[in-house]
Amino acid sequence: MTNSTQISRRDVLKLMGLGAGGAFLSACGLLPSASTNPTAAPVFPTPLTPLPDLPILSAELTAGRGTLPIFSGKETPVWRYQASVKEGGGDFIQTLSGSYLGPIFRVKQGQRVQVRLNNELPDPTIIHWHGLKIPEEMDGHPRYAVAPGKSFDYDFQVINRAGMYWFHPHPHQLTGPQVYYGLAGLFIVSDEEEAALGLPAGEYDLPLVIQDRIFDSQNQMVYLANGMMDSMIGFLGDTILVNGSPNAILDVKASAYRLRLLNGSNSRIYKFAWQDGTPLTVIATDGGLLETPVTRDYITMGPGERVELWADFSGRNAGSEMKLVSLPYTDFSGGGGMMGGGMMGSSGLPNGTPFDILRLMIGEKGADVNPLPSQLSTIERHAVNDAVNGNNPRSFRLAMQGMVHTINNRLFEMDAVAQDEIVRLNDLEVWEFVNLEGSGGGMGMGMMNMEMPHPMHIHGVQFQVLERQIARGFESAYQELSGGFVDEGWKDTVLVMPGETVRVLVRFENYTGIYLYHCHNLEHEDAGMMRNYRIKG
Ligand code: C2O
Ligand code: CU
Ligand code: CU
Repeated sequence: MTNSTQISRRDVLKLMGLGAGGAFLSACGLLPSASTNPTAAPVFPTPLTPLPDLPILSAELTAGRGTLPIFSGKETPVWRYQASVKEGGGDFIQTLSGSYLGPIFRVKQGQRVQVRLNNELPDPTIIHWHGLKIPEEMDGHPRYAVAPGKSFDYDFQVINRAGMYWFHPHPHQLTGPQVYYGLAGLFIVSDEEEAALGLPAGEYDLPLVIQDRIFDSQNQMVYLANGMMDSMIGFLGDTILVNGSPNAILDVKASAYRLRLLNGSNSRIYKFAWQDGTPLTVIATDGGLLETPVTRDYITMGPGERVELWADFSGRNAGSEMKLVSLPYTDFSGGGGMMGGGMMGSSGLPNGTPFDILRLMIGEKGADVNPLPSQLSTIERHAVNDAVNGNNPRSFRLAMQGMVHTINNRLFEMDAVAQDEIVRLNDLEVWEFVNLEGSGGGMGMGMMNMEMPHPMHIHGVQFQVLERQIARGFESAYQELSGGFVDEGWKDTVLVMPGETVRVLVRFENYTGIYLYHCHNLEHEDAGMMRNYRIKG
């Protein structure tokens, strides 16, 4: 590796944290006013908060093909969003030159966002804003996917509290490959409550997107080389990228940082830890700040989940190094039968493989460190007694049937909503995901013991984890990861381990309409482990 590629990788990582946006942006003209949406989109179906005195953020995202120098030698073909913003909006979008990822939106709660998506890909696409509470027409359901050459206009108000949300494609059966080839960005919301805390900001606020990939000798990304087997397990790579860079190294100062982690991988589950055993200080999850910081020896993250860490390097010596790693754990998907033998496994490295994730090189003294507040936020806890179905959870049985994974024996259907998939606006419900039906019991897979974790995600809401139960016989593998769950705050994606039942409390507020719930293992999702649900007024 040449020195210059090293530097550019560090620059890419640094860019993720820099506040200045304008320099990286090319201004473009005003957005055309004619809508090309399949249905005319209303502006604000239900404005819930008064619109503060904030400029409207208008941007265009063009999804298209490109190439990047990820390794020395041949450039890597990627798919990516190219962003351009209307004049005056430059502070709200950071682009990441040198990375396939991005852009990063940095918006304020209450702000109105208008985005035109231009599809210059060879396939249909649509953007889903993961974790945001927005009207169904804006949510990126696959039925809104636009053909190559077409556009889609988004227009919504950000009502979520401060937190790191993200966006990615969501077209029918093509989410996995489109994310894999590079399409994903971050959507960071701030609010006044958070601003008052004095958390590390500007260059001390570092989003870190962790993904795995496989590259061939020509530096081309390889997807699902083992076909059905890869898709049944989910794609697992052999190379870790942070913000699109392999062998990621980041120069930091001796100061406190806010590290915002997104597991943006298609299916890999990480067990993150500091290599020297320093406990991790967690301040936020999917839906924003926790009430109080919590510590963990390691954190477990399934695809789609976010965790924010507060990391204080101020006591460390210049020239020292901190390393974020993923610790080894027992692979659940290949435990027994033929899977373990490798001949039928996925093409990359199995779940549970230890990895170095990111090296942080500590340099000179940085900004003075504000002590981390012991109270970060207030979270109103949902009470199971307030749920309309407290004694009778709405149950979703996750199972493997043949080569696909089902939810209550069903696969995705574009327009269908079953009777038991209809909820009422403003109801608080208990939902339960039951992962007790691997294919160990037969179903034609015979010799395979196929126990799969499923990161379950619900669109349009943030929920709270009520309880987890692990079935007998599954405890030992479970306990290697369960100490790393952070269930204290708002979540939109929850990892459901083999043998586990997870109950969540979820209120269907804000909007009526058809939304999705699905497994965020993107290969499972594409193969049909996804369903509509309807919020009825
Ligand atoms: Cu991030 Cu429907 O997903
Ligand atoms: Cu989502
Ligand atoms: Cu799954």
